[in-house]
Amino acid sequence: MTRGRRAAEREPSPDGAATGPVLLALAGVSRVHGTGPTAVHALDDVDLRVRMGELVAVMGPSGSGKSTLLNLAGGLDTPTSGRVTLGRDVLSDVSATERAALRRRRVGYVFQDLNLIPALTAAENVALPRELDGVRARAARKEALAALDDVGLADLADRFPEEMSGGQQQRVAIARALVGPRRLVLADEPTGALDSHTGEAVMRLLRARVDAGAAGLLVTHEPRFAAWADRTVYLRDGVVVDASRDDDAEDLLVGAAAGAAGEDPTWDD
Ligand SMILES: Nc1ncnc2c1ncn2[C@@H]1O[C@H](COP(=O)(O)OP(=O)(O)O)[C@@H](O)[C@H]1O
Ligand SMILES: [Mg+2]
Repeated sequence: MTRGRRAAEREPSPDGAATGPVLLALAGVSRVHGTGPTAVHALDDVDLRVRMGELVAVMGPSGSGKSTLLNLAGGLDTPTSGRVTLGRDVLSDVSATERAALRRRRVGYVFQDLNLIPALTAAENVALPRELDGVRARAARKEALAALDDVGLADLADRFPEEMSGGQQQRVAIARALVGPRRLVLADEPTGALDSHTGEAVMRLLRARVDAGAAGLLVTHEPRFAAWADRTVYLRDGVVVDASRDDDAEDLLVGAAAGAAGEDPTWDD
């Protein structure tokens, strides 16, 4: 897999690879559902690193483990074995409460089934994660309106999800994932319900956030969207069957980069 069209237009690094610190690392990660003969190996011994400034596309047939991978990366699920590291934190080593807080602060997630709250307007849906994170209501609304404006929905801020089309709802979900300073953006087929024009606009937003320093994982079935990523990881039956350029620069792990000063360069929080 070659570098994406958008990636190729950006400033090239000497070896053509993303060079930021590793923000997300999966090491030997497996996820088994159930036990015994009916056990499903949704993910089997997956290694993956995503750097700041890097957008990685995840492709593979239905049931290959793409959503499982994203859920583990975002701390919504914990692995049966292996380690998921986000910044300096091993997600399986922290309590569920702490994991939820980390997720809220650091991870923007566009779910395959959107998960908008029907009783809240578009602006309220987008503002909610910020308010949960302690941002005052007025400031959170302001951020939400800006995020909705970014996805072209400024005029629909006070509509409820059921008053919007599927594509509009999807853009609200994307605004909710991109609002605030979150550094890991996980998108599970975010372009699924969008026409190609809007799909491109969504990719531009994702790409811009990643270029501004976030790390991104994008599940997509469409090569033209995967082309916006720096590289593509292919899954089949829970196994990575092809990962272009997943290099091994341990020295660039976030913790190592922080050095003796003990600073964590990764987060705004
Ligand atoms: N909660 C669950 N319980 C049992 N099996 C599951 C569960 N979640 C996912 N699976 C199974 O794990 C495999 C991978 O699922 P998933 O990650 O959703 O794949 P994809 O997103 O690539 O379509 C599938 O066989 C699916 O049926
Ligand atoms: Mg899926």
